[in-house]
Amino acid sequence: MFNVQEISISSFAKLIVAFGAIFFVSTGIADQNPSIDLAQLSDGFNAEQKYMASCFACHSTGAAGAPKVGEGMAEEWGPRLEKGLDAVVANAINGINTMPAKGLCFDCTDDDLRALVEYMIETSQ
Ligand code: HEC
Repeated sequence: MFNVQEISISSFAKLIVAFGAIFFVSTGIADQNPSIDLAQLSDGFNAEQKYMASCFACHSTGAAGAPKVGEGMAEEWGPRLEKGLDAVVANAINGINTMPAKGLCFDCTDDDLRALVEYMIETSQ
């Protein structure tokens, strides 16, 4: 048989979970605001998601000689960074050899691409 008290406890727990989710989402938005002020990132830009959608296919496997991204891949990026971050970002925007312009992310702004390049370098440390 149903125990009324048990039912109300479990719905209380669900309420807590729901509030927790709202809190999580809203603090996430709050965290993004300062970077939106500094750079012209697209609305809702998320470097990890964009990377997975646009760059991961080539840069996780190193397809066609793409510098690999991931833990311990710093040496893939070191020589490229010798020419300076701006030049590396410019190559991501304009394309270089078999690296397609904008990494095929045609709705990415230049600042989005810079953020993606920084994300790729950071996750390769
Ligand atoms: C179709 C495969 C492919 C996709 C998709 C792709 N890349 Fe690349 N990328 C390459 C290859 C290949 C190179 C190496 C080019 C070379 O140096 O000859 C490269 C090189 C780079 C470099 C190094 C440039 C330099 O100066 O050495 C950056 C930065 C980069 N890609 C960023 C990105 C970003 C950001 C995305 C996603 C928005 C992306 N790539 C998507 C294939 C790809």
